[in-house]
Amino acid sequence: MKITVVGTGYVGLVTGACLAEMGNHVVCLDLDPGRIATLLRGELPIHEPGLLDIVLHNTRSGRLAFTRDVDHAVAHGRVQFIAVGTPADEDGSADLQHVLAAARAIAERMQEPRLIVNKSTVPVGTADRVRELVAQVLRARGLPTLAFSVASNPEFLKEGSAVQDFMRPDRVVVGADDPQTAQTLHQLYAPFMRNVDRLIVMNVRSAEFTKYAANAMLATRISFMNELALLAEKLGADIEQVRTGIGTDPRIGTHFLYAGTGYGGSCFPKDVQALVHTAREAGQELSILQAVQAVNERQKQVLVDKIVARFGADLRGRRFALWGLAFKPGTDDMREAPSRTIIERLLALGAEVATYDPVALAQARIALGERTGLRLLDQAHAVLEGADALVIVTEWKEFRSPDFAYLAATLRQPVIFDGRNLFEPADMHALGFEYHAIGRSAP
Ligand SMILES: NC(=O)c1ccc[n+]([C@@H]2O[C@H](COP(=O)([O-])OP(=O)(O)OC[C@H]3O[C@@H](n4cnc5c(N)ncnc54)[C@H](O)[C@@H]3O)[C@@H](O)[C@H]2O)c1
Repeated sequence: MKITVVGTGYVGLVTGACLAEMGNHVVCLDLDPGRIATLLRGELPIHEPGLLDIVLHNTRSGRLAFTRDVDHAVAHGRVQFIAVGTPADEDGSADLQHVLAAARAIAERMQEPRLIVNKSTVPVGTADRVRELVAQVLRARGLPTLAFSVASNPEFLKEGSAVQDFMRPDRVVVGADDPQTAQTLHQLYAPFMRNVDRLIVMNVRSAEFTKYAANAMLATRISFMNELALLAEKLGADIEQVRTGIGTDPRIGTHFLYAGTGYGGSCFPKDVQALVHTAREAGQELSILQAVQAVNERQKQVLVDKIVARFGADLRGRRFALWGLAFKPGTDDMREAPSRTIIERLLALGAEVATYDPVALAQARIALGERTGLRLLDQAHAVLEGADALVIVTEWKEFRSPDFAYLAATLRQPVIFDGRNLFEPADMHALGFEYHAIGRSAP
């Protein structure tokens, strides 16, 4: 099938590359000249394991192309995926300007029937807005009978395992209001689900809602465990033991029960916020999700609260080594990363911070900028020298079995603040460390 993907970020690039891998002919459009130039050089603008191989393989075989040429992109694909960003607007709602601009660009140029598929995360009712906009533009062009349809196909891939998620999806949700549209998308996704058909067809509004419901549920689990972790510390319980104790119940399951430094990233914060906003506009309060947000904001402060409790609120003359900047392992995405809040506050309290991340340094430089007292280094060991404590923020695999003897010898004092509960407190004490984790203190 001939496909166009509008927006070549985490979602658009993975979608385009994986669809090309299955034999489709894909054109990926982006308006960002730097992004397209990077891709045309055979490099990736983002870090995503396994993606480069697929991109190179398919560009060489002629099935995948990158362009800034909107005319060419709209002329190419019978199916036009919209995968542009939907950041939070000032009032917390999803900013739809890029989605609507992409839809308008398609409507202004299309000469033949088009299926417009919205992959961006958008509030319920957006497909209707896109449909109205396209119809209006076509009428203005004197083409009121040119056929088109608008579908919703929310994306559930996870940064860090996006290729795997797209190639072997748990489910593919399609919101379609006519059987022909559902049929086309079924054809497109069938190669990804040869063992079991995991396509779930529903009406468009339900598909749009499903994406928000999924992210809201996952964010809720995280905040729930973070809140219980604070209580566990007060009660002398260990949240890690509690986690295994409840996760083995199949009704609960093991995923997303980790206490930590709060959720971040490009999706959960803005999507929870947008759903709360949507509900308000519909005259309903979402009290659970409001609490989820409040708990998350507090949780981003917990690690620094512990540092302040240990070293005092005046951190001038103190130096901290910080491991992990990306909002989670496997990605270089710094959007809403808890590390940003932690670094900002440590600097504000007068501390010096030396940080390391295996892949996110370039993005972190952009996100954090040049700051007095902040150093971004490309060696995990280099940040330790002269530090009063090690602060672990992202659970990259390479942090899970560090050389503890080297750590103890290099830090000014053997103190670790672990925002990801990577180690056993008893082991750490036996090794001579003062170990502060989340939800694990003895009374
Ligand atoms: N990142 C994720 O893990 C993830 C997962 C599921 C869903 N989503 C959703 O998918 C959407 C895209 O997210 P992302 O992380 O890939 O965004 P992103 O910011 O990485 O990429 C968006 C791209 O769209 C381009 N763009 C914007 N307007 C355009 C236009 N009119 N024409 C062409 N290109 C345009 C931008 O230049 C940018 O490169 C969002 O709605 C997001 O919520 C993201």
